[in-house]
Amino acid sequence: MKPTVTMRDNRTGKEYEFEIKEATRGPSVVDISSFYAQTGMFTFDNGYTSTASCQSKITFIDGAKGELRYRGHTIEDLANNHSYLETCYLLLNEKLPTKEESYAFDLELRHRSFLHNELTHLFDAFPTGAHPMATLSAASASLSTFFYNHLNPQTDSEYQEMARRIVAKMPTIAAFAYRHSIGAAFIQPDINRSFTENFLYMLRAYPHERMHIDVEGERTIRPIEVEALDTIFTLHADHEQNASTSTVRGVASTGAHPYVAISAGISALWGRAHGGANESVIKQLEMIGSVERVDEFIARAKDPNDAFRLMGFGHRVYKNFDPRAKILKGLQDKLKDELNLDSNLMQIANKIEQIALSDEYFIKRKLYPNIDFYSGVILTALQIPKSMFTPVFVIGRTVGWISQWIEFKKDTNTKIARPRQLYLGE
Ligand code: ACO
Repeated sequence: MKPTVTMRDNRTGKEYEFEIKEATRGPSVVDISSFYAQTGMFTFDNGYTSTASCQSKITFIDGAKGELRYRGHTIEDLANNHSYLETCYLLLNEKLPTKEESYAFDLELRHRSFLHNELTHLFDAFPTGAHPMATLSAASASLSTFFYNHLNPQTDSEYQEMARRIVAKMPTIAAFAYRHSIGAAFIQPDINRSFTENFLYMLRAYPHERMHIDVEGERTIRPIEVEALDTIFTLHADHEQNASTSTVRGVASTGAHPYVAISAGISALWGRAHGGANESVIKQLEMIGSVERVDEFIARAKDPNDAFRLMGFGHRVYKNFDPRAKILKGLQDKLKDELNLDSNLMQIANKIEQIALSDEYFIKRKLYPNIDFYSGVILTALQIPKSMFTPVFVIGRTVGWISQWIEFKKDTNTKIARPRQLYLGE
């Protein structure tokens, strides 16, 4: 007999039965898809705090334990023992690559990192000073005009080509968006550089500057920087059905082009409550300015009449700790001396962390530092401008979004995402 949940309408005494579906890990779900048909009512779940919107085999989070896995592999294993591109391969192919597969994947992405020359003209349509997230979202959507044939991939290789193309081009679009925002000439990708090194190169280099990776000095890219950024990309690669991923799936459900779905995901990510928090954290630390002023801002964060929130604290799912934040804190400590991390910002961040972890307000609400709390200090040390913090998140997350898009398209039981409402108007 299938396990079920029985609901009773206490007005009429009528009972309704709904099937329980078991998960391979984590909470089971109650299948309420027949709820309206059976009861004539809708369910109401503001912000989807108790709603599973889909079934998925990609990413698993246990918020109580602080556990995160991509395709069954723990985030600790992937961050410590695998590169970002291996993680991308895992998300897209459901297995880690062999050495040969890894090499071929890397090579293909290097070749696909270039943008069509006509696309580069698009950037000129935007004013200098435009926030790179806005340009990034628009330029990603415009990729659908160049690769319209990706609208309905049929074979596995068509799906993979579509996915690899967007993953490969995102760092270039992001770097171009930044360079346009400061009125600087674009730096084309360099086929001889890895995915992550290339991004730093396209951001930093002067035109025709060779910028070696192996030379110490101010105008170089240091291996430790590439390693740190690679880990940051891995930590951002996917995160189950968060706001931007749900947006991507929502657009997928209407049958629109995958690259406009990614563009919608970028827009959703930009908000301060989501990926935009990483830029806000560092601005907030700078605004606080000194360790002496931390108490004042903690008091504001706790005041119910003040809209001020501590950026980089709290998470809808993690109620113990964010495992990505733990890895980044370790990385921050490791890089402190080598990358000359801003000691004033770190002291302010450390004091906020200490107070928040011992203060009744934060403990009671299970508010812990999230990934964005630590990433900003490291990204600053990597000389990444603040306006590029959220684009860095986008680069890391693109593979997750496109993996979720593919899973959605291959699922024959999906429907258009069309929620209902509790109408209270005239
Ligand atoms: N500072 C102070 N108080 C907070 C904070 C915070 N950062 N976050 C939540 N709270 C309080 C709320 O005021 C609320 O208090 P109340 O019960 O007295 O009303 C309680 O904690 C619950 O907060 P909700 O907003 O209901 O929690 P929700 O799960 O909906 O929101 C969110 C999660 C959006 C992340 C929230 O904690 C927040 O705004 N944090 C700051 C922004 C941030 O860091 N976002 C990045 C998230 S990670 C990511 O997207 C990559």
